[in-house]
Amino acid sequence: MRMVVLGLGYLGATHAACMAELGHEVLGIEVVPEKRAQLAAGEVPFYEPGLPELLKRHIDTGALTVSGSYQEAADFADVFFIAVGTPQKKGEYGADLSYVDSAVEQLVPLLTRDALILGKSTVPVGTARRLSERADELAKDVEVEIAWNPEFLREGFAVEDTLHPDRLVLGAFAGGSAEVTCREIYAAMLEDDTPFIVTDPPTAELVKTSANAFLATKISFINAIAEVCDAADADVKAVADAIGFDARIGRRFLNAGLGFGGGCLPKDIRAFMARAGELGAAEALSFLREVDNVNMRRRTRMVELARKLCGGSLLGKRIAVLGAAFKPESDDVRDSPALNVAGQIQLQGASVAVYDPKAMDNSRRVFPTLDYAQSAVDACEKADVVLVLTEWSEFRNLDPHALATTVRSPVVVDGRMCLDGKAWEQAGWTVCV
Ligand code: UGA
Repeated sequence: MRMVVLGLGYLGATHAACMAELGHEVLGIEVVPEKRAQLAAGEVPFYEPGLPELLKRHIDTGALTVSGSYQEAADFADVFFIAVGTPQKKGEYGADLSYVDSAVEQLVPLLTRDALILGKSTVPVGTARRLSERADELAKDVEVEIAWNPEFLREGFAVEDTLHPDRLVLGAFAGGSAEVTCREIYAAMLEDDTPFIVTDPPTAELVKTSANAFLATKISFINAIAEVCDAADADVKAVADAIGFDARIGRRFLNAGLGFGGGCLPKDIRAFMARAGELGAAEALSFLREVDNVNMRRRTRMVELARKLCGGSLLGKRIAVLGAAFKPESDDVRDSPALNVAGQIQLQGASVAVYDPKAMDNSRRVFPTLDYAQSAVDACEKADVVLVLTEWSEFRNLDPHALATTVRSPVVVDGRMCLDGKAWEQAGWTVCV
């Protein structure tokens, strides 16, 4: 089937390449010229394992093409995916829907045949209905159906998650063709017995925001328990392991540490609270404020711990920060807990050397004043404290004996509980979590 993907960021580029992999003919629309040029040349402008090979293959065969022209998009197909970003508004909790709105505003007046627009971006409940009404106003003698088909991919596993999703969700208004079209688009997955939930648009929008709110809550739950464990001298990892054996609880997303960041969970829980407030249901989600608070406290606690380990002041100290991406297998530094901590420590007068296997360029753009080291070992040179803030396997595999000779004092904070603490202690390190 021919289809268009509007927006080629983490979500859109992955979706476009995966749709080509499923055998469809895909036109991807990207409005940023530099990104477009890279993608058209078969290069992925961000780090996502497995995606470069997939994208290059389908650009080379012509199954996937890239353009910046909405006119070309309107001419190319009758099915359009919206995959543009919905960041947090500046200074407000709500989501900034200007990119989603603009996609509809630009596309619909150009349509000369009936069309189906499938939203993949994470949006506040009610957005599909609003866009559908707007599309009716903008459409010139054609029927434009809008439905929501949220995406649940994780960065770092984006290709795998898109091609083999846990479930497919479609929120469609009655009387349209969205379900039939989606069954055709996703035929390969449906043959593999992937659960397919067909519902109305508000429910589909809420499935997505609820899933992310639940994941954020699960992480903050274990981090709240970590605070109590700190106070009671108990081991939060053992608590997580033990409660995780209960199938109703499950062990995944119970890793205590520096908490969640990235371009999704933090802004999604805030947008969810803001939308609930608009709907008069603010109280229902008031616990998410605490989820956010617990999460942000993890960052403050890490800064305080570093200060304590430096004898009460960070002034003039040298701190090594290992990890800048918001999680491993990603170069994404949006709302990265690691970079946030690095920045706060520097503001308190320390010199901070940061190293990350993939996120150096993005980090430099966000925090140009931090020192960026060539390797983990370079970052640790003469460090008073080493902070491991993203659990890259490169850091797990560091040799604590060798590293002990590089630092000024062998003190490490395992901010993601990912190191073999005993091995580090045997190599002479003081290990804090
Ligand atoms: C998240 C969801 O997991 C995806 O299902 C969703 O599709 C996506 O948001 C989205 O809305 O687009 P992602 O942001 O890629 O995916 O990252 P996660 O793997 O969820 O991790 C988020 C953060 O939580 C990271 O900073 C990670 O370090 C942290 N985390 C995760 C923990 O602190 N503890 C855990 O146990 C798990």
